[in-house]
Amino acid sequence: MEKSQINLPESSPEELAAYVGKRVIVHGSIYKIRKMSGFCFVILRTARHMLQCVCDNKELIEGMAEESCVILTAKVAGESRARYGVELHMISIEYLSVPEAQMPIVINGKVVDTSLENKLDFRPLTLRNEKERAIFKIQEGLLRGFRRFFEKEHFTEIHTPKIVSEGAEGGANIFRLDYFGKEAYLAQSPQFYKQMMVGVFERVYEVGPVFRAEKHDTARHLNEYMGVDFEMGYIKSFSDIMEMEVKMLTMAFELLGQEYGEELALLGVELPKMQAWGNVPILKFSEAKRLVAEEFHREPKECHDFEPEEEKLLSELIKRKFGSEFVFVTHYPTGKRPFYVMEDPDSPGETFSFDLIFRGLEITTGGQRIHEYGVQVAKMLERGMDVKDFDSYLMMHKHGMPPHGGLGLGLERLTAKLLGFENIRQASLFPRDIHRLTP
Ligand code: 4AD
Repeated sequence: MEKSQINLPESSPEELAAYVGKRVIVHGSIYKIRKMSGFCFVILRTARHMLQCVCDNKELIEGMAEESCVILTAKVAGESRARYGVELHMISIEYLSVPEAQMPIVINGKVVDTSLENKLDFRPLTLRNEKERAIFKIQEGLLRGFRRFFEKEHFTEIHTPKIVSEGAEGGANIFRLDYFGKEAYLAQSPQFYKQMMVGVFERVYEVGPVFRAEKHDTARHLNEYMGVDFEMGYIKSFSDIMEMEVKMLTMAFELLGQEYGEELALLGVELPKMQAWGNVPILKFSEAKRLVAEEFHREPKECHDFEPEEEKLLSELIKRKFGSEFVFVTHYPTGKRPFYVMEDPDSPGETFSFDLIFRGLEITTGGQRIHEYGVQVAKMLERGMDVKDFDSYLMMHKHGMPPHGGLGLGLERLTAKLLGFENIRQASLFPRDIHRLTP
């Protein structure tokens, strides 16, 4: 008997129509069994799809259990009411495994109807729900889009150490380690290393974990998140970095639109319209602060940074005035930015730095770095830092670096805002926060 093998993860469901009338073999998990009189519907969960199957063989129906891993032999039939316009008429089932225990939580409903805490506690199971897993297919799509962009723009992908001898970003949110008797830290960002690699490859990027010992429990912070970082040399201004980011996001959203339609529809997501570079609103920090204070009649509590509420109000204002869901805020005060950030020579106290705010949340920080040895050392001394501790970082400055800059984007923050989530944890596979170390 002729059998054709369907390999669904690689083919689009539309291609299934070509198999109508044919026998196929397909593997997956039994997601849902809906018993009718004399037959049953079975939804088979494959690597990416949910296939409608029909079984009218009494013996096969009796032995079936949800979450069994199976290989089905079936005949493909056209069915306009089924999701992909076809359904599989089951002929036989080979069981690869059968679950040992009852599901502790219902995962095959339209949504997983429980608290976020429960969802996270049972993550290996709740992610099997089609909407839950769609979140992470979309996250994958974002990264594929970014990588496509980096490749097109001739960036080299790098992998930098996560056990380091110095924190790059300052502040107290750093995890300490005992490294064979020496004090070491978990990397707060790939900052130093990506700069060093500009001296080697000119343009580099890294997608990797970033560790922050945030002690507060907020909906915006994780203790480990995925950083998308890039760094590039021979820039004319820090606006070159912002322009790159606009193009990078545009490409990622385009790819999502082209290849992730099913997941976006499942989650009811409309992709944001990213304006072309030149049209995305850009405001200086001092201007943005003033605008928010004036428009919303509020007295800022903190002068050198944004309060979370101000970021929300600024987004609201920009959307209303310019129709943009993105806004760049530039020239943050020197005191609030790390020691490697370049100060504006025409406006001391302000830096060549920016944040990108999307739907009320900072998703990126970036800017131009100090590339001259003397300037960098002077800045460190001014901050009371021990220059000797940074010998290996300063090696590149001492031996010649081009003007350069880059950015760091929080992948979970972008995903959460894209999908309309209030809590960043929803966009992290296995979030780490002050209360959570498992699963
Ligand atoms: O603003 P941050 O700390 O900037 C840096 O790490 C710089 N080295 C970047 C650069 O190249 N200049 O972090 C960058 C981004 C933030 O904009 C935010 O999206 C995300 O990382 N982020 C967090 N995401 C989740 N949980 C946390 N605790 C985060 N802290 C920062």
